[in-house]
Amino acid sequence: MTWDIDPPADGNCRTPTPDGCVVDLWLIDLDADQAVDATVFTTAEVERAERYRFERDRRRFIAGRWAQRRIMAAGLGVDVRSVSFAGGVQDKPKPLVNEAPAPLAMSYSRSAEVGALAIAADGALGIDIEAIEPVAEASLVAGRHFTPGERSALRRACRSHEGSGDAGDPRSFLQIWSAKEAALKALGIGLAGDLASLDASAAVTGPTTETSSAHAFVIRALAPSTRPQDGGDWQARALTFAGRGGRNAGFLACIVADRPVNAVAIRWFDEAPGDVVMKHR
Ligand SMILES: CC(C)(COP(=O)(O)OP(=O)(O)OC[C@H]1O[C@@H](n2cnc3c(N)ncnc32)[C@H](O)[C@@H]1OP(=O)(O)O)[C@@H](O)C(=O)NCCC(=O)NCCS
Repeated sequence: MTWDIDPPADGNCRTPTPDGCVVDLWLIDLDADQAVDATVFTTAEVERAERYRFERDRRRFIAGRWAQRRIMAAGLGVDVRSVSFAGGVQDKPKPLVNEAPAPLAMSYSRSAEVGALAIAADGALGIDIEAIEPVAEASLVAGRHFTPGERSALRRACRSHEGSGDAGDPRSFLQIWSAKEAALKALGIGLAGDLASLDASAAVTGPTTETSSAHAFVIRALAPSTRPQDGGDWQARALTFAGRGGRNAGFLACIVADRPVNAVAIRWFDEAPGDVVMKHR
């Protein structure tokens, strides 16, 4: 299935402006049956897969890596065997084609049975996806890692949720959390980075019932260590979508880049020959 989020909040622009980008977002059903050619994986990937305690997590890791290779290979017009990823378990994977850096930027995230692969032409890119589910110890995490602005945005959202009969809705927390995590993933440092040095209070949209929506906002980088290379702030796009199995209340994702994200083209990855088409922008 293919659909675009239109119109983006800042104008229906499918062509990147000189200072903006368009992101391809591939959603992957990690529990779907697919014919995986396990011989494409590196020894490090096989060893990592074997370390998972639960078969389900092992299968999802493998399905995610397979889909990422297939999508990249189709988009770049190369054989799936020539695609690989450099970096250790806690490093941002660097996409390679025939051992050389691939000419694109990517970031991957997984929650429950859905994987999400964001691809842009270049620049710093990060994605985080979260199943919309109650979060254990949300107030503890907010107390430790959220800025004062984020905490008051949460309180405001809580009050309006009460009005809508939606009290306890985890969305506002997840909107902030996913934005912060995606920014740290764009930086390549992940959760080792300082979550409190990023302010994503603008991520909170209040109660919403749509299954698909897009929201553009800025994540303020409060310290040199959390700024993009140009020293500015991070540009973000948040969206929600329904899962496929109907088990979850749905998912939300946040895409973060070092330039405005003009549009996001979303589609599900389905393993079928010729089905994987990536438009290069
Ligand atoms: C990367 C990290 C944010 C992943 O968090 P998560 O919620 O478990 O996972 P997500 O599904 O959102 O993302 C996982 C993907 O992020 C990517 N990734 C891994 N490390 C990354 C990093 N440092 N920067 C950006 N992306 C990274 C990988 O593609 C990974 O997919 P894989 O597990 O299939 O290889 C987290 O593990 C982390 O911060 N690691 C690095 C920092 C560290 O050393 N942490 C120790 C505990 S604080």
